[in-house]
Amino acid sequence: FSPFLTDKFNRKHSYLRISLTERCNLRCTYCMPAEGVDLTPTNELLTTEEIIRLARLFVQQGVTKIRLTGGEPTVRPDIIELVAELGKLKHLGLKHIAMTSNGIALKRKLPKLVENGMDGLNLSLDTLDSNKFEIITRRRGFENVLGSVDQAIDLGMKSVKINCVVIRGVNDREVPDFVAFTQKKPVNVRFIEYMPFDGNKWNSDKLVPYKELISNIETRFGALKKLTDDPNDTTKAFKIPGYAGQIGFITSMSDHFCGTCNRLRITADGNLKVCLFGPNEVSLRDAMRGAQTDEDLLEVIGVAVGNKKKQHAATIPSYHVSNQWRSRTAFIPPLS
Ligand code: GTP
Ligand code: 5AD
Ligand code: SF4
Repeated sequence: FSPFLTDKFNRKHSYLRISLTERCNLRCTYCMPAEGVDLTPTNELLTTEEIIRLARLFVQQGVTKIRLTGGEPTVRPDIIELVAELGKLKHLGLKHIAMTSNGIALKRKLPKLVENGMDGLNLSLDTLDSNKFEIITRRRGFENVLGSVDQAIDLGMKSVKINCVVIRGVNDREVPDFVAFTQKKPVNVRFIEYMPFDGNKWNSDKLVPYKELISNIETRFGALKKLTDDPNDTTKAFKIPGYAGQIGFITSMSDHFCGTCNRLRITADGNLKVCLFGPNEVSLRDAMRGAQTDEDLLEVIGVAVGNKKKQHAATIPSYHVSNQWRSRTAFIPPLS
């Protein structure tokens, strides 16, 4: 495996997450303030050519999976063409192209995206109640998201997942409804532990540790069947025997999975982030615009990856975090 993408702890980074935009058509309370966020000027964001150049470079070094994220990736006007270009990297070793989307504006685009090689879709959906959807996301569109779940299944996508961030006092009582949702639908509903990001008013009382969720689910549905987890998966996977779909838990806070992390990410403005929570970044945009060659870029990438920390800082009492798709970092005071 490429030495440039291998870190000091021998983690091999074969999974690249690319943020295509900071913009979003929702305003989920756990993610951004009502007024939105300051947007980076367009000329400081990566162009599609730059994204494809980086994607090719990473695939040549051994990246086999690319996930497109945002903000909301579908607000990027050329998303369909961009996925088509990524699709051409499949002959270089890229195996999976996936997207994390809120499903608000996917309907017209999804068939083309699938045709162009996208095989995985993770949809954010934190409630099955349309009124609560408006409270959590500060926008309408619940029906669109449900429609996107069905459409993705009908298109035969290899992987369709629902991301449900569980927040105590907000949606934790809906967990059984989401489990029931997997009875007929072949989807993978993942309950995500609420993580602290820039100004999202996180506190430990709002976090529902996955063990508590499992215990509540088992009281209601009986023993869960454990499924085998892929070695680099962030999810602990289970199912209710006989159900079409499955459930899982993303335990970033109560049981971090840094030891098997195989992810790198590129922010919309072209910074390489070796860890979701990490401040150490390098601007690949500036390197490219400074006319650096692919070999120069690899050196820069190799140094950043080489310095990746053993585990993420949100698991220790005082830390810097940034919103997952932003470059800037903010200081969050120690937990009391
Ligand atoms: P797949 O495993 O490919 O399905 O993707 P994913 O679950 O990693 O990505 P997705 O964008 O659907 O994110 C789901 C949740 O996992 C979100 O809350 C992310 O913030 C979180 N997440 C994604 N990558 C990382 C990571 O590297 N570290 C941590 N701690 N959390 C992550
Ligand atoms: N904690 C956990 N997950 C989060 N996401 C956004 N903000 C947070 C947070 N504070 C999730 C969204 C989306 C994915 C990209 O990240 O639900 O599905
Ligand atoms: Fe938009 Fe996703 Fe953030 Fe919600 S969580 S505001 S859908 S980027």
